[in-house]
Amino acid sequence: MRALSVVALSVLVACGGSAKDTGADTAASGPSADGPTLFANHCAACHGSDGTNGSSPDLSVEVPSLEDAQLEEIITNGKGGMPAIAVPAGDLPTLVAYLRSTFG
Ligand code: HEC
Repeated sequence: MRALSVVALSVLVACGGSAKDTGADTAASGPSADGPTLFANHCAACHGSDGTNGSSPDLSVEVPSLEDAQLEEIITNGKGGMPAIAVPAGDLPTLVAYLRSTFG
């Protein structure tokens, strides 16, 4: 019984720990998350884990034709069928740099 509680507790701590880490990154006001993490958290649900394999447009096709400022605008305000995405302002440059280096 005691051994079982210890196992249950460590599982809880393990899960809680990683969820808390992600939350802290998002909540911090300064740039804290790296590009891949930002992409996974904010974009991958629609555009796919690698940006090209989702239900939404292939970013390796879209990103090369857009300026950095346009990318920031699309992320912040949404465009057409894409909703505005709540990326912390301090993380936008990191995300845009990641998009540029990944998709061209
Ligand atoms: C809720 C789903 C969803 C999420 C989340 C999402 N997108 Fe999109 N995105 C779309 C859809 C749908 C379109 C097509 C919009 C249209 O043309 O109507 C699109 C289009 C785009 C385009 C092309 C815009 C153009 O000029 O045609 C870019 C670039 C883009 N998304 C980047 C991102 C980035 C970067 C993120 C993460 C910060 C993101 N998207 C998150 C659904 C999403």
